[in-house]
Amino acid sequence: MRLRSKLPEGGISIFSRMSALAAKHNAINLGQGFPDFDCDPVLRSRISHHLNNQKNQYCPMAGLFELREALSKKINKLYDHYVDPQTEITITAGATQAIFTAITALVHEGDEVIIIEPAYDCYKPTIELVKAKCIPYGLSGPDYKIDWDELDSLVSSKTSMIIINTPHNPIGKTFAKTDMKALEAIINQRDIVVLSDEVYEHLIYDDIQHQSVLKYPNIYNQSISVFSFGKTFHATGWKIGYAVGSPKLMAEFRKVHQWNVYSANSFVQYGINDYLKDESKYLGLPTFFQEKRDYLNKLLDKSKLKPVKSEGTYFQLFDYSEISDEDDITFSLHLTSKYRVASIPLSPFKSKKTNDKMIRLCFAKKDKTLEQAAELLNKI
Ligand SMILES: Cc1ncc(COP(=O)(O)O)c(C=O)c1O
Repeated sequence: MRLRSKLPEGGISIFSRMSALAAKHNAINLGQGFPDFDCDPVLRSRISHHLNNQKNQYCPMAGLFELREALSKKINKLYDHYVDPQTEITITAGATQAIFTAITALVHEGDEVIIIEPAYDCYKPTIELVKAKCIPYGLSGPDYKIDWDELDSLVSSKTSMIIINTPHNPIGKTFAKTDMKALEAIINQRDIVVLSDEVYEHLIYDDIQHQSVLKYPNIYNQSISVFSFGKTFHATGWKIGYAVGSPKLMAEFRKVHQWNVYSANSFVQYGINDYLKDESKYLGLPTFFQEKRDYLNKLLDKSKLKPVKSEGTYFQLFDYSEISDEDDITFSLHLTSKYRVASIPLSPFKSKKTNDKMIRLCFAKKDKTLEQAAELLNKI
């Protein structure tokens, strides 16, 4: 049989490659973005309660209504914006599915989609699957700020979507109000949807306020925003999240969602609905993760790795130019095989290769793991 691949360039992801190498060399894995500690036993017990009490059949297509109501209240409180749980929220099988569904539902063949690179790796293949063109805007270090005039110059009559991500993986930077206002001006009077990836909304530090599209009514009317309970509640393996968007866009979103998922798994939705009643479970996250970020930076204070302070996410960039001239992939491979600490290079998240000499380390790890990694990194 002759097979025509829809993603001929798609190979093994940098995460799988670095994790396999970390396992081979018995390296400490600060590469992949997930905690090495378990999620809250209270959450696990709520979920097992529902699993064991017959909450094992389909939920409504858009998700458990009580959970959507709880999210609507949370959004109203945090972002001072009312969203109708009936028509504006859909529970998804993680943020990745929400991103896939939003792009598939709203981007047409031949359209252009602007992404901000380095960009989380699921955007580009999904855009290519719908036969649209990815138009990258490249961020440059060390401040990684967006020049919105330059980004505006990439907009054409074919642009149907701009994808933003704040707090940003892999850079760890966040949007300011000025960024949101600039974005608002760009999409004003244009048929452009903003897909806002906000999976790290609660992982934000130094009292920075998260700039959700939900705070900006003019952007909200032209947006789908996506969130991840897996990221928020230290349970990335559960693949559960949600999408929020104005009724018109959400109706289109659901037309695709009902055929590729129908409804996300039921007992986890019931369990999360119970757990959300205690808002300290998510409002305490900035303090929890900021302490981890600061601890890692303190441990590496005397090393040759220089941090670009993370404003959000659980990633911290480090400049390795005092150690090596190698490109970031080669350096990351050497760091894993020779010094036994796995990291993630930035270049796989970019279409244009630049040699920034930056690697990403994940600090969502037990203190002991961070200490063991720092001991090895301090020897370089
Ligand atoms: C920026 C960003 N968006 C989306 C996702 C995917 O989230 P989920 O695991 O809920 O699909 C991730 C996961 O690493 C991410 O970093």
